[in-house]
Amino acid sequence: MKFDSEDKQKYFDQVVNKIKNGATHNYILTGKTGRGKTYLATEIAKQFNGRVMFVPELLSKMKQAMLKYNDYSPVRFVSKRTKPNVIVLDDFGGRKPTEWEIDQLFRILEYKKAIYIITTNLRSDELAELFGDRILSRVLENMDKTDVYKAQGNDRRLKMKF
Ligand SMILES: Nc1ncnc2c1ncn2[C@@H]1O[C@H](COP(=O)(O)OP(=O)(O)OP(=O)(O)O)[C@@H](O)[C@H]1O
Ligand SMILES: [Mg+2]
Repeated sequence: MKFDSEDKQKYFDQVVNKIKNGATHNYILTGKTGRGKTYLATEIAKQFNGRVMFVPELLSKMKQAMLKYNDYSPVRFVSKRTKPNVIVLDDFGGRKPTEWEIDQLFRILEYKKAIYIITTNLRSDELAELFGDRILSRVLENMDKTDVYKAQGNDRRLKMKF
């Protein structure tokens, strides 16, 4: 088994199968720090030559591009010629976003040709509070309960606690 728990393996198999079968909605992995969300999301993306984007870094790259190019569009960062286009948006809501950042994320979520696997420490009500209902509504579009992974257990990084 690739993972440290059966529920992670089950979620991995389920998501990989759904994407292989043509599902186009998003996925969410939520929970406290160090529970293996980024690890699990990355393993799923790898099955499809997907990309992992650390959200704070993505936003800072977008800002640089916006200042540099007249024809700037955030969609450029997430488009891909081949399908499926699997993108991990890692650490969504790690910091309080600006209005401009919310708008960029809104525009990439509106781009329907990507499948986003979102990792976050926040719950849906906290996401709505920080980003607004319209972002949350797009993130959750066509998802069902089993597409949300709630990471449990202990912080793996604290194995060496002293
Ligand atoms: N199944 C696994 N096998 C081996 N290492 C793992 C596994 N799952 C997680 N890890 C390791 O445990 C650490 C924490 O995992 P990860 O970074 O995925 O946590 P996270 O839930 O994304 O935390 P945060 O909310 O702080 O971003 C990392 O060093 C990661 O490589
Ligand atoms: Mg993480």
